[in-house]
Amino acid sequence: MAKPASVLIFFTTYLCIVIAIGAKNCMWSNGRGWIINVVNEINGPNKIQVHCKSKDNDIGMKTLGYHETIDWKFCENIIAPSTLFFCHFYNGNKEQVFDVFNDTLGAFCDEKDRKKTYYRCTWMAKLEGFYIKDRRAGPGKLETGLKLHDWKVGRV
Ligand SMILES: *[C@@H]1O[C@H](CO)[C@@H](O)[C@H](O)[C@H]1NC(C)=O
Repeated sequence: MAKPASVLIFFTTYLCIVIAIGAKNCMWSNGRGWIINVVNEINGPNKIQVHCKSKDNDIGMKTLGYHETIDWKFCENIIAPSTLFFCHFYNGNKEQVFDVFNDTLGAFCDEKDRKKTYYRCTWMAKLEGFYIKDRRAGPGKLETGLKLHDWKVGRV
């Protein structure tokens, strides 16, 4: 018969694996995970700078050339489900700052990615402004996105 100690080690290891897999899939937080994705769609010599953060997470200042992208994942907090991420964008003499994820914007991400675990929220920074992909929209409309913000000249 197996020694009690080895049985204990076996179950502890098993439990750790289950918890780790669950955490990766946001199982311990309503099962809702989100990927926020920001793409630079401005074709030109200048790169844009993006600084995104939430109350608890700072994604850091990132520099994006044409078609470059940043993304990050998070699990919804089961205790306080209303997570908010905002980004500050810099493009030469133009700037803008707005929420890239909040309670209302979550609806735009209503299609799960291939892994069926995360909802994907995609923002496109264009010369004419900022567009979010509406994943509820049919093909065609999805790629164009919906314009929600303009660039502002000067500091914001
Ligand atoms: C969510 O963010 C958008 C900006 O991207 C804003 O228009 C909207 O008012 C925000 N909603 C809430 C509930 O703060």
